[in-house]
Amino acid sequence: MSQHILTAVAWPYANGPRHIGHVSGFGVPSDIFSRYQRMAGNKVLMVSGTDEHGTPIQVQADKEGVSAKELADRYNRVIAEDLTGLGLGYDLFTRTTTRNHYAVTQEIFKGLYDNGYIFPQTTMGAISPSTGRTLPDRYIEGTCPICGYDGARGDQCDNCGNQLDPIQLINPVSRINGETPVFVETEHFMLDLPAFAEVLGSYLQSKQGEWRPNVLKFALNLLGDLQPRAISRDLDWGVPIPLDGWRDQPNKRLYVWFDAVIGYLSASIEWARRSGDPDAWRQWWQNPDARGYYFMGKDNIVFHAEIWPAMLFGYSGRGDRGGTPGSLGALDVPSEVVSSEFLTMEGRKFSSSRQVVIYVRDFLERYDADALRYYIAVAGPENQDTDFTWQEFVNRNNGELVAAWGNLVNRSISMAAKNFGAVPEAGDLTDADRALLERSRNAFGPVGEELGRSRFKNAIGEALDVVREANKYLAEQEPWKLKGDPERQKSILHVALQVVDDAKTMLTPFLPSSSTKVHAMLGGEGVWSGMPEIHEVDEDGGDPYPVITGDYDGAARWEHQPIKPGTPLAPPVPLFKKLDPKVVDEELARLAE
Ligand code: MF3
Ligand code: ZN
Repeated sequence: MSQHILTAVAWPYANGPRHIGHVSGFGVPSDIFSRYQRMAGNKVLMVSGTDEHGTPIQVQADKEGVSAKELADRYNRVIAEDLTGLGLGYDLFTRTTTRNHYAVTQEIFKGLYDNGYIFPQTTMGAISPSTGRTLPDRYIEGTCPICGYDGARGDQCDNCGNQLDPIQLINPVSRINGETPVFVETEHFMLDLPAFAEVLGSYLQSKQGEWRPNVLKFALNLLGDLQPRAISRDLDWGVPIPLDGWRDQPNKRLYVWFDAVIGYLSASIEWARRSGDPDAWRQWWQNPDARGYYFMGKDNIVFHAEIWPAMLFGYSGRGDRGGTPGSLGALDVPSEVVSSEFLTMEGRKFSSSRQVVIYVRDFLERYDADALRYYIAVAGPENQDTDFTWQEFVNRNNGELVAAWGNLVNRSISMAAKNFGAVPEAGDLTDADRALLERSRNAFGPVGEELGRSRFKNAIGEALDVVREANKYLAEQEPWKLKGDPERQKSILHVALQVVDDAKTMLTPFLPSSSTKVHAMLGGEGVWSGMPEIHEVDEDGGDPYPVITGDYDGAARWEHQPIKPGTPLAPPVPLFKKLDPKVVDEELARLAE
């Protein structure tokens, strides 16, 4: 049965190009998942965009000496190119500075406000004594009052995971210039998180055994201390507060995280409008049979497993105070928050300023997208913090992609092309032939099941096992020695090509470009697995902006398909580049000491 699957991918800040740490968390996993779901016959809507408001953008804009809007325009495009280069198949990758996004954000605010889940409160805000400007929470650092960690930020402590207010920090200092902030009274809107304690509790409890244990544990932990949370800021860059007396205040805006999570919904609505069926988004948001999967790095869990569900419950009238759904109607909460852990780079934290980094675009200038996708799937931070090393990248590329998979494709197709020019017919099958065919065909079930549960390492490991067994089979059968027995040679190569075909199908979610090449080498026609494209769009004559979109209805189906004897074969082209071991030292030299 075909299901509606929303793939909601975390929105990268438009404050710089993406590096491979970013895309290993939200990017590549979400695309592997979506490609699999489409192949399995489900209706996928994969949305995201650049996150363009708030202090992360403002601070970088100040550094680069441009306005926040100019900075966002610059990096929205750069990031769209980074993600397209990796082959990430968004149905829509848009941005948070669209009129549509502002309207949807304000609608959600009003719905929550009307249902009584948002209230104003006078709080203490930090300002910088030297500039008189508001100091954003995350730019204040100090000692955590809960665990004593001395690198806690004003918004949260990364050591114990607790949400903080800057005023709670012991010895607060500005991360911008080291001065001690002063605290003054300011009025803000609060989201009443305690009013969702019950509904969030039963929501999260029902996910036991389904979500990754680390993610669920972290989310359940947050429930112990639910506090009202400020969702506005003293800032001029963001979505205005849609209430009389507030709308026109130049220095009050909605908190960037409040508007960013709403992006999943606004992008779905924008996608529907662009596709010519303005209500189509409802099938993913107001449908008891639809499932929503949210992909991100672990620093985003609190916003996706606690705050976003609370906002959706509140808008739908499902918190302690009841209420009625807003004008969009009741909205579905995430089915699963799929979070990765952190990736480090050669033992250190990624840092653009300290040059401990490899940007996606630089990576793609030197290596193929599939090589990175493979590495992330097989060795990425799926369940624990993980270190990227160039040595491991080269080893896996050469040992697994080139020597195992590329070699199987290459020798099977070239031997068959050279000797027969076409897919040969199999004669009588031996036990070994049958065993390998069955092994390969039976792998679709378990590999698909792992993919559907976002267990990418297990999935690719299982698919690679089939490849390794096929290589072993060829080594044992030695078809190259059977010049005098063409019938037996045909059978062996038929079996090998069938397994190559099965494996390329199973590897398609991970390696869409190279699988498309294998599809063509085996005589397949048409698009196998569609690729994303950048289009320039606008809103009713407004400024044009780039979006990523694409037609992903290729021929790829999650099933074994019998190869057809007689299909012409051409000599194969190499699938993957073998990397010189010198690459390791060259890349290490590029990293700052
Ligand atoms: N921009 C945030 C970050 O990079 C992620 C936002 S995710 C969404 O950490 F919820 F806003 F979509
Ligand atoms: Zn702490």
